[in-house]
Amino acid sequence: MCGIVGYTGPQSAFTPIVEGLRRLEYRGYDSAGIALGTGTSLFVEKRAGKLANLEGALPANLPTVHSGIGHTRWATHGGPTDRNAHPHLDNEGKLAVIHNGIIENYSELKAELEKRGHKFESETDTESVAHLLSELRKEYKGDLTAAMRAAVKRLRGSFTLLAIHADAPQTIVGVRRNSPLVAGLGDGENFLASDVAAFINYTKRAVELGQDEVVTITPEGIAICDLDGKALALKEYEITWDAAAAQKGGFAHFMLKEIFDQPKAIADTLIGRLSDNNQIQLDELHMSDDEIKKIKRISVIACGTAYHAGMVAKYAIEKWAKVPVDVEIASEYRYRDPIVDKDSLVIAISQSGETMDLLMAVRHAKAAGARVLAVCNTNSSTIPRESDAVLYTHAGPEIAVASTKAFLTQIVAVYLIGLKLAQVRGTLTDAQVKSLYTEMLELPGQVEQILETIEPLRELTRKFAKDNTVLFLGRGIEYPVALEGALKLKELAYIHAEGFAGGELKHGPIALIEEGTAVIAILPTKDEHALDEKMLSNIQEVKARGARVIVIAPEGAEVIGAEHIIRIPVASPLFQPVLATVPLQVFAYEIAVARGNDVDQPRNLAKSVTVE
Ligand code: F6R
Repeated sequence: MCGIVGYTGPQSAFTPIVEGLRRLEYRGYDSAGIALGTGTSLFVEKRAGKLANLEGALPANLPTVHSGIGHTRWATHGGPTDRNAHPHLDNEGKLAVIHNGIIENYSELKAELEKRGHKFESETDTESVAHLLSELRKEYKGDLTAAMRAAVKRLRGSFTLLAIHADAPQTIVGVRRNSPLVAGLGDGENFLASDVAAFINYTKRAVELGQDEVVTITPEGIAICDLDGKALALKEYEITWDAAAAQKGGFAHFMLKEIFDQPKAIADTLIGRLSDNNQIQLDELHMSDDEIKKIKRISVIACGTAYHAGMVAKYAIEKWAKVPVDVEIASEYRYRDPIVDKDSLVIAISQSGETMDLLMAVRHAKAAGARVLAVCNTNSSTIPRESDAVLYTHAGPEIAVASTKAFLTQIVAVYLIGLKLAQVRGTLTDAQVKSLYTEMLELPGQVEQILETIEPLRELTRKFAKDNTVLFLGRGIEYPVALEGALKLKELAYIHAEGFAGGELKHGPIALIEEGTAVIAILPTKDEHALDEKMLSNIQEVKARGARVIVIAPEGAEVIGAEHIIRIPVASPLFQPVLATVPLQVFAYEIAVARGNDVDQPRNLAKSVTVE
């Protein structure tokens, strides 16, 4: 949601700003704008729609300037119009502000500022900050940093803010509260952005910014202080992935590239986790064996796709480690007085590490005394920073809005946690743990095998492009996979899709089946409960009522009643989700392409959901 970039240095600022915004496009946006400091005034342009609209609106003789701020906006207050696009200016047109998040007390501030003569141009919450900062800057005799500190003390809500003033255009001031902002330390040039992806082409040196910290960048350096003006030390870290990792690499879309990145992402997440004496190595948990043995319950909290990874975690952890696991949608968690205390382990799963619903749930769990373990894909993001421990997934940058490789690595990460807990609590022997880990090492090759033989599925999929409803059936650990298949199809293809537990069909959903309804069923690997046979019965039930059924089935498993069968390699029941998910991702991708949808940035969605 909202991409933010600030640049100051010797280059023509327009290039790193627009390039940076383009790299942040994956966050989702509906308008874009820039403010460049020309030396005497600000050059400002903003447009509804994609960045191309903004570029098209720029004059051919755009001045060469060396500092500025740029923004892609995901509308919250006020529709996605030119007028509401950021930057927002003060009444003199000399101070510009861009913002991600929500200023909760903006109407109060607006009323107060209007009384003092400020005229508002837009319907946004952001504009009140531009006017407030303008007043405060005068009060602090032109010191924009001091003005920002004072302004933030007046604001409620969550926000990243950047400001620039025409009188000192080489200085850009930023702040963050519950919303991402990171600084980039260059050679004679410095950057601010929502995400390191924006400046990775220019520097690998990033500086972490904490809650309510005010940052000031000039070409000479970066200074950080707290809201009382106390200078803070820079917490620098190195960005370990390169720009190429965030490029499409010859694929038509980021999503397709990311589907094909999965074998490597899984391998990177798994690698080196078993010691020579067959112990699962997860030092990141920062828990002694005694502490692990004392865990009485586990709550997994997450949103969307990550929530489905949490559901998979429940099956695996309960089976192996024999600890009760609840899985809960993060946005519901803190509003129902969850039972959580110092004997609880809370696992917070997030690709971005910035999801506001999850951040709030993490804070709630911590306040109740629980230990919080984040499973996250984004280094130094807010959720890992606020958790007691973090296990990073190694999916690399995920740019497409629809999550693919992050999901599979989240599943693999929770398997590792399950094995670790089981080993320490003695519910699995070292030999069993070794055997399961060794089987997991096969997963990257098996996903690769699916991807190598995916072409027939891509063709078949197009036959379903005009369907209005697709139902997904799973049982056991394949139930979350069915939910994930349906979510992918909804968000990418805008088709009504629902996932059901096969056993629930007869309790209501079967009424939806009519002649020609598309149903995708996931046949589980044979297990002690013979769930595969139960799924075969479900397939018969829907077929008998006219459904066209696609079945995802392990090699060699007998399938009756399917119109199409997609084969996947055979894996133990608990590992099958990693394989069964892949054809569903491809299915949703192909249908979205066939329908002409924007695959990487589906309508109304944002990659990083930083508002509650
Ligand atoms: C679906 C999708 C979303 C995210 C959800 C959580 O494809 O991407 O459902 O999974 O918004 O995001 P993170 O994992 O960043 O917390």
